[in-house]
Amino acid sequence: MAGPCGNIKPDPAMQGDSRAVSSSQQGCHEQLEAMVRKHLAAPSQRPTAAHTREAFEAIRQRVTSDGRPLVFDSFCGTGMSTALLAAQNPDKLVIGVDKSAHRLNKHGPLAGDNYLLVQADCGDFWRLAHEAGWRATRHYLLYPNPWPKPGQLKRRVHGSADFGALLALGGDIELRSNWQVYVEEFSQALSVAGFEAHSELFTSAQPLTLFERKYAGSGHQLWRCRCQLGHNTRPRAAEHQTR
Ligand SMILES: C[S@@+](CC[C@H](N)C(=O)[O-])C[C@H]1O[C@@H](n2cnc3c(N)ncnc32)[C@H](O)[C@@H]1O
Repeated sequence: MAGPCGNIKPDPAMQGDSRAVSSSQQGCHEQLEAMVRKHLAAPSQRPTAAHTREAFEAIRQRVTSDGRPLVFDSFCGTGMSTALLAAQNPDKLVIGVDKSAHRLNKHGPLAGDNYLLVQADCGDFWRLAHEAGWRATRHYLLYPNPWPKPGQLKRRVHGSADFGALLALGGDIELRSNWQVYVEEFSQALSVAGFEAHSELFTSAQPLTLFERKYAGSGHQLWRCRCQLGHNTRPRAAEHQTR
């Protein structure tokens, strides 16, 4: 029988010998505030990828009829955190989203009936979920790719045109990273959007994800930002419209 992490096959590369994030950027990006304001004022016009729309439609009925409050686990990788969060929250339906079929396929059979794994682009998925009237009670973003070069700001969650769609889903949000700058920027972007965020160093006695296990095992410091977006909220700095 599958354990609470699903049947994820052990991967020696995930055990713990990784280099800390290296960047020429030592603090929050100087363009961050302007970028966040620009994106909140003029949300993404990017067409929704067909594969994400199909993946969304494939679970729409199930989610709508389930009725339990929703927990989102965006950038879920193999879905280890999705399964753990589901085991900890039997009264919630947990939706893990990742674009990588390779990572998701490592999960094996689902270990419970209160979580789903979806292969989709997170930004597109957030917009579709919002349009469908779904709202997050909690939203985890665990170790998104750091994109540490200064020129990669737009690829970070808070620097992307998808940031408003993330905020529109609401809920208690938690982002974790082994790069302090990423967490501080996320916190600052939330503040620009009118929310109060709290970031801190933390230790992970029981890793929630494979990357968390690898980073902790490699002696990295782990950082997190938490913020209550509330329910049915919209960013206050600029009204965000979903398509
Ligand atoms: C560093 S891994 C972290 C995975 C997992 N949360 C963990 O901690 O083990 C980042 C993940 O983000 C996924 N990803 C990156 N961009 C994405 C996007 N736009 N939509 C969905 N998933 C994405 C990647 O496929 C990858 O699995």
